[in-house]
Amino acid sequence: MGKVRYLTSPLYYVNDVPHVGHVYTTVIGDVLARYWKMLGHDVCYLTGTDEHGLKIERAAEARGITPENMTDLNSKAFSEIWEGMSLHFDATIRTTDPQHTRTVQEVFRRIKENGLIYLGEDSGQYSVRDEAYVANDAKVCPECGGETEFIKEESYFFKLSAFQDKLLAFYREHPDFIIPKTRMNEVVSFVMAGLKDISISRTSFSWGIPVPGDEKHIFYVWFDALFGYLSGIDFGSENEKFNESWPATLQLMGKDILRFHGVFWPAFLMAADLEPPNQLLAHGWWTIEGRKMSKSLGNVITAERLQNTVPSDAFRYFFIREISLGADGNFSVEALINRTNNHLANDLGNLSSRILKMIENYFQGEIPATAGLERADKELMNFSKETISLFLENFDKLQLNRALENAWELISLTNRYIVANEPWKLSKDPLARGRLGTVLYNSAETLRILCVLLSPILCDGTRSIFRQLGEKDSPAKVPMDTLGWGGLRPGTTLGNLETVYPRLEYKKISKALKRNTSDPIHSKTEPSPEKTLPTRIGIADFSRVEMRVGKILEAARIKKSDKLLKIQVDIGKEKRQVVAGIGKTYNPEDLIGRLVAVVVNLEPATLMGVESNGMIVAAEDVTEKLSLATFAEPVEVGARLR
Ligand code: ME8
Ligand code: MG
Repeated sequence: MGKVRYLTSPLYYVNDVPHVGHVYTTVIGDVLARYWKMLGHDVCYLTGTDEHGLKIERAAEARGITPENMTDLNSKAFSEIWEGMSLHFDATIRTTDPQHTRTVQEVFRRIKENGLIYLGEDSGQYSVRDEAYVANDAKVCPECGGETEFIKEESYFFKLSAFQDKLLAFYREHPDFIIPKTRMNEVVSFVMAGLKDISISRTSFSWGIPVPGDEKHIFYVWFDALFGYLSGIDFGSENEKFNESWPATLQLMGKDILRFHGVFWPAFLMAADLEPPNQLLAHGWWTIEGRKMSKSLGNVITAERLQNTVPSDAFRYFFIREISLGADGNFSVEALINRTNNHLANDLGNLSSRILKMIENYFQGEIPATAGLERADKELMNFSKETISLFLENFDKLQLNRALENAWELISLTNRYIVANEPWKLSKDPLARGRLGTVLYNSAETLRILCVLLSPILCDGTRSIFRQLGEKDSPAKVPMDTLGWGGLRPGTTLGNLETVYPRLEYKKISKALKRNTSDPIHSKTEPSPEKTLPTRIGIADFSRVEMRVGKILEAARIKKSDKLLKIQVDIGKEKRQVVAGIGKTYNPEDLIGRLVAVVVNLEPATLMGVESNGMIVAAEDVTEKLSLATFAEPVEVGARLR
């Protein structure tokens, strides 16, 4: 491993402005980079923008500007928002940078020299939104739900098929290559199912990096973009940055693009005689108030809106505390406000102002000295020390929400300590002056420790509390690995006191975060009201839908479709043939005998040449994974659902 800890965010597409999803990944990286720096590591945190490809070319066309203009504008939107949110990077890359072109072309030459590239012809249904071919000529992309289009062209191919065994061996030797574990397993099964060679060049449009030696071809956008992780740290140049930083310590991404990173990426690197990264973290997916974030629903929360509405500490804390890395989350204003008002304003904010005000009132704003330790004091000290080690341990394991729980336990213990020792009573007794000083010193010292631990996440608040405690440097300057009890010096004068975490008002935040037509992301597609709010229907309308309990008798795959199954189902009085799009989640043989909910009075339809007389009811989550509706109690076949 290089001595620099190299951390990356994805390189975001610039067909649109940044939104909360992008902010989430980028915040995780910022938190980790700050934490690692506090542990004394050399850290390089990279972000960037993915600016080539058909999707970008089309988006520019739709706006009537050149791709150059649009990518300049939108990549600037990304860098400005990051700056405005104080997200700090040590390196950035745009895939339109000249150094990136050189990198991609050089890597291509190496892979070609290794005999892993050949010229062929590619055709099939292509999903522009996902920038990928889809299997089985699907007209709708199984990943993103967008329409696909037929493409046929001469193309360079990368021999991905040659990497199946190498990848499987690599995964075996590096069981933590992908976290969480479940995602690792998904990638392994995907590779075990067999790998086909992939097309890495295109000739039908021009917005991309030319293939050296055959310039009518441009590189496929994923063959281009992934190498941004190398060009961003000066791959191929004279300086040492690349050798010090590669392989990457940790690459962050959402689960949507794990396959590109977990399969293509290590294969490309191996093919070019380069090492794969040490670890990939595929985090979960955020919905907005329980619904998939999408332009057509008009519920996209742009990064700009978030920045103008919610204090940075509040959304950072919410993102990190609300879910564990890897889990899906729901971004709701209510949850955000609860976290902010209960945890930040009440717990941490009140603790801090309470302690600081008492020091101001009882000791003229000077940190008091201690005079003898009682049991409660030792308990607080020991718990603080334990919290430090638990917090660091959990952070190192990337269990960031657990680490925050550890810190919050210390906050409540400190609150209890203050209540139990009643400094307000001690202050009235001249003989208890020493005891009063001890209690307030210990409380303030705990607060100092909390500030240091929390500073990678709560950058603004902890800096403010530190200044109020009279500390000269910011908490981020305190080396985390030597953090221990007793850092506050008695006699230090407090800074001016101020409120750290004002409470947020639900109405105000909720209104301000809502769709605003002046956001560029919304100016194009104004959703119709019925799309944003499902229309209510009466019971009479509902009862027109006849649903019955069905029992699956036979199930088989429909040729050329990985999604559609032909199913014979018993619905009581009769047998029906139904075509169901559940083949990606379910194997036909596992369905025999299962009880399902069937809509029986739908008009017949023909799907891929097969007649369908009804519909099987299933739930679909944001990742397009399906789950059949089933029955909680034994039920008769043919029974009506109401
Ligand atoms: O995929 N929840 O770029 P992209 C959580 N250019 N994370 C989300 C999210 C959500 N709802 N929406 C977006 C690309 N993200 C390629 C990457 S890398 C060489 C090329 C985050 O702009 C998450 O990190 O579509 C996801 O992987 C990424 O944004 C996709 O960004
Ligand atoms: Mg995307």
